[in-house]
Amino acid sequence: MDKIRIRGGRALRGSLPISGAKNATLPLMAASLLTDGTLALANVPHLADIATMASLLAQHGVGIGIDGVAPNGGHAGRVMTLRAADITNTTAPYDLVRKMRASVLVLGPLLARAGRARVSLPGGCAIGTRPVDLHIKGMERLGARIELTGGYIEASAPHGLVGAEIIFPTVSVGATENLLMAATLARGDTVLVNAAREPEIVDLARCLVAMGAEIEGAGTDRIRVRGVDRLHGTGHEVIPDRIETGTYMMAVAITDGDVELVGARLELVGAVADALAPAGVTTEATPRGLHVRRTNGPLAGIDVMTEPFPGFPTDLQAQLMALMTTARGAAMITETIFENRFMHVPELCRMGANINVHHATALVRGVPRLTGAPVMATDLRASVSLVLAGLAAEGETILNRVYHLDRGYERLEEKLAACGAEVERIRSP
Ligand code: UD1
Repeated sequence: MDKIRIRGGRALRGSLPISGAKNATLPLMAASLLTDGTLALANVPHLADIATMASLLAQHGVGIGIDGVAPNGGHAGRVMTLRAADITNTTAPYDLVRKMRASVLVLGPLLARAGRARVSLPGGCAIGTRPVDLHIKGMERLGARIELTGGYIEASAPHGLVGAEIIFPTVSVGATENLLMAATLARGDTVLVNAAREPEIVDLARCLVAMGAEIEGAGTDRIRVRGVDRLHGTGHEVIPDRIETGTYMMAVAITDGDVELVGARLELVGAVADALAPAGVTTEATPRGLHVRRTNGPLAGIDVMTEPFPGFPTDLQAQLMALMTTARGAAMITETIFENRFMHVPELCRMGANINVHHATALVRGVPRLTGAPVMATDLRASVSLVLAGLAAEGETILNRVYHLDRGYERLEEKLAACGAEVERIRSP
């Protein structure tokens, strides 16, 4: 398994490109199942999770192409075309769903287009139990019959889905996306109440509308969908990745650097910029993206709580914690979205951080410096928080289990090295 070696202490300087958003691309790819036309997605990132979704869709019968050929035989393209002329198989097997929870996003589109779907239950994962009950209950509200047998969601709607009002008891990004897609082809109107407002949902709605769907209110907590008989193909450009943006904002801050994040958009990371400002990190929009640098001397500790959009994202909580380890004073970080999302804490402490966790809150007392160490992470965002710590630490950090990073960060070591970091991938023989 590959490892990443980092020698800390170098400030990041220069410019760094932001990729297309993984969490926007995954539902957009699933939306290709809704039509027999061709969906062409531009600005698609090269990531393991995208490859997993492509494998899943391919076995449902979707023809997938990517422009551009890389010198090493892979692909260098950014435009992915997906065409589900015929859905040849409606089962999403355990082997693929277990690799990536977002696989459950095929449930709504398969039900809406093919009238049935058999999707493996994703099961638990490293950051908590993460059930899919809201997806299932929502599909039932749209008239689907659902049984849970043998670890699978067996869903059918032989006479098609029927629009309904769906009130979500909790805000769920995935459930909102799944039901939004399903509702586009349901008979009549659907209203999603307490819908998630994440930019990835707005991006999905924008693409669905370009495919012929009738949707109002995406980006608010009440989305109205008027079902149509069929959707058609379209072209769509994926929004920039706000989690990657926020991660590099914190990488710049932790190394006392000065970097332009090219392609980043301030409105996607408003809560992050607002939270970091009192810590002494300045974020300014430029014609090409965002300029991030430290101002006002040492970093100051700040208190942050994760929330659904437009609040501070849970997917940046681990990175913020790494940043706070060397801040002056204390920081209080509260995780409200996922249980058990503090697995990075013991590893950060092995690098010299002073962190105490009590239930969903971590108290981080800043230390003068971190020291490099061999570390290992259990999920995507925890892994990258250890990379940030390594960039600031004295000496060498070796990050194991790099495959977590490859799920969500495109060319991470190249992007950081181009800004002056001493970071390299050690490929396993
Ligand atoms: C998405 C993101 C993920 C991010 C998360 C929260 C993708 C591919 N993934 O995940 O990176 O961390 O949003 O911003 O976009 N819940 C239920 N029942 C359900 C569904 C969710 O109880 O049926 C709970 C979850 O356990 C969690 C909360 O709702 O506590 C929010 O989860 P959700 O927004 O659904 O996360 P995902 O869509 O899985």
